[in-house]
This record gives sequence, C-alpha cells and structure tokens, in this order.
Amino acid sequence: MIHITPEQKEDYWEVEALYDLCFAPGREALSSYRLRDGVPFLADLSLVMRDELGVLGAAIRYWPVLVGDTPVVLLGPVAVHPTRQGEGLGGLLISESTSRAAKLGWKHVLLVGDYSYYSRFGFERMPNLQFPPPTNQSRVLGHSLIDTDFPTGQVGKVK
Ligand SMILES: CC(C)(COP(=O)(O)OP(=O)(O)OC[C@H]1O[C@@H](n2cnc3c(N)ncnc32)[C@H](O)[C@@H]1OP(=O)(O)O)[C@@H](O)C(=O)NCCC(=O)NCCS
Repeated sequence: MIHITPEQKEDYWEVEALYDLCFAPGREALSSYRLRDGVPFLADLSLVMRDELGVLGAAIRYWPVLVGDTPVVLLGPVAVHPTRQGEGLGGLLISESTSRAAKLGWKHVLLVGDYSYYSRFGFERMPNLQFPPPTNQSRVLGHSLIDTDFPTGQVGKVK
C-alpha cells in the first residue's frame, strides 16, 4: 500500500535527504536550480509517496518557469529511494503529478533528464529551447499536456 500526498512543511527535510541520497553532491549547482532560486515549489504538484508504515519512498517537486512569455512547469527533482527503485514508483509519481498539472490547467511540462527514461511518458527533445547554460541540450525535454505545440524560446525564471 502506498499513499501519495502533496508535500507538507514537515516533509521538507526528509525530501531533501532523499534527494541528497539519490543525486550527486552539488546537485544545487546545476543550471536548472537557478530557475528555482527564491521561487517556492508548486504545492499542488509537489508530491511525496509513503508506504503503509509512513516510510518515504519517493518524492517529486515542480516549479513554475517561463518559456518565452508562456508559463510552463519544470518537473524535478524526482527521486525514488534506492531500495524501491524499479518498482514503478517513479512512473506512478510522474503520471499522477502530470495528470494533476493538466487538471490545474498547465499545458506544458519541461525537465532536464534522460530521454531514455522520460520518452515513455511522452517527453521529447526540445532543440528550440534555450535553457540557462551550462546544460546538455539533448537532456532538455518537453511534453505538452494538451494538443498544442510546445512554446519555443528562452527558458527563464518567473517574475
Ligand atoms: C529515475 C528514477 C526516478 C526512476 O524511478 P523508478 O521508480 O526507479 O523507475 P520505474 O520503476 O518507474 O521505471 C523503471 C524503468 O525505468 C528505467 N530507468 C530508470 N532510470 C533510468 C534512467 N536514468 N535512464 C533510462 N531508464 C531508466 C529502468 O531501467 C526501468 O526500465 P524497464 O521498465 O524497461 O525495466 C529513479 O530510479 C531515481 O530516483 N533515480 C535516481 C535519481 C534520478 O536519477 N532522478 C531522475 C533525474 S533526471
């Protein structure tokens, strides 16, 4: 049994610890974090997954960003505890959160990640987006939640 709920204040440091465990040291030096600096994550979309004992198994956060003038959600970080990876929890969290995003009226989801993983959720490479450097362009991926083109242009911080 697993429970998926929006991240609360009391989850914050546990989620940070999970991210520290799952990502390389210095994760916050990545260019994507410059889009997040000083901007709160989206409370409706940032989710934690716990088992029946309350143990944190996975977490996902989202931030609002702009592509040109268009508001878009930036997916990530997403992480599954190493003891629970490969069970489909990451997939479940991504599907659940993107479906919540669509219901809330968001049209586009952006991320920086492995195409080989995210393509299964409909993400495509976005060669026409300018992401803050340094970023490996082939890892810039986008997915439209409705039948409309992904916006193009500079990816920037919300004002
Ligand atoms: C990436 C991650 C979120 C996936 O979650 P998960 O619950 O382990 O994955 P799922 O069970 O939903 O999916 C498993 C499948 O994804 C594949 N997969 C996992 N990570 C992958 C990656 N980085 N690249 C390509 N495929 C990947 C597995 O090989 C497996 O493939 P299969 O279905 O063909 O067997 C999780 O492994 C994780 O937290 N990794 C460390 C942190 C990280 O890299 N986060 C993503 C940043 S872009």
